Amino acid sequence: MARIGLNMILFKHANDLALYLDKQRKSGLTIGFVPTMGALHEGHLSLVKQALATADIAVVSIFVNPTQFNDPADFEKYPVSTGQDIQLLEQAGTPILFLPAVSEIYPQGTDRINNYDIGRLETLLEGSFRPGHFQGVCQVVERLLRIVEPDVLVMGQKDYQQCMVISRLLQLMGWQERTRLLLGPTLREADGLAMSSRNRRLNPEERRQSTAIYQLLSGINKDIRPGNLQALKQHSSAWLVNKGFRVDYVEIASAADLSPVEDWDGKTPLVALVAAFLNQVRLIDNMLLDKTIR
Ligand code: PAF
Repeated sequence: MARIGLNMILFKHANDLALYLDKQRKSGLTIGFVPTMGALHEGHLSLVKQALATADIAVVSIFVNPTQFNDPADFEKYPVSTGQDIQLLEQAGTPILFLPAVSEIYPQGTDRINNYDIGRLETLLEGSFRPGHFQGVCQVVERLLRIVEPDVLVMGQKDYQQCMVISRLLQLMGWQERTRLLLGPTLREADGLAMSSRNRRLNPEERRQSTAIYQLLSGINKDIRPGNLQALKQHSSAWLVNKGFRVDYVEIASAADLSPVEDWDGKTPLVALVAAFLNQVRLIDNMLLDKTIR
């Protein structure tokens, strides 16, 4: 444990953090937790604010989890900016930072022992394009949850499917009553691009192109009508390809369980989701379609 600046305490060891938090809990304080992989931006900081607003103390973890990268090149290129992250967290008033080494999170090594039954989330959308990704996410989040034992877990809605996976993980752990999952809204740049650590990897030309995703989602939100959605999905995907993307998926799905919707009754709440590459950088985004929510 080390004190950084005036306000933040840094922990590198799981046992030290767990002991410290145990003391806080016994003195009646509630704990909010924001797990991250670093390369922090305003979106993360808004989650920290949410944690501080709903619990007495907030813990932020920074750990680039090797077991959730299905593509080794993506892992190697994942942006790391720990010094800057620490400054941002300190400015945001984060009391506790957990910055573990791989051996601290995976003392037995990084092989997977558990298999998490996350049902169709395993094979839909991100699950289908990033095999094993959500198993790795569950593995690390379970480990972090067991160290931090938070009252409130705050996660960003930009990773819509991941939020569902974590809700299922809490169920599998029997922790639905113990830890409340709060979702933070997606923060966007002025031109609509969803904030993401991966945006740092975009070159100026790609950064200009990237706004097409938000334009597309807004267009779907505007144009969607009850009935068959096949043409809208196909047209949307082709539009992105035309803008220079390699598209993994453009999907319009039930907001409740992500099952793809082919014929829309005009009532089922929907979410539109996109995953697409600009050269080497894979971007994801989503939008709840508000016509369905009215
Ligand atoms: O969303 C992320 O940054 C990661 O998937 C998470 C939840 C921190 C687990 O490594």
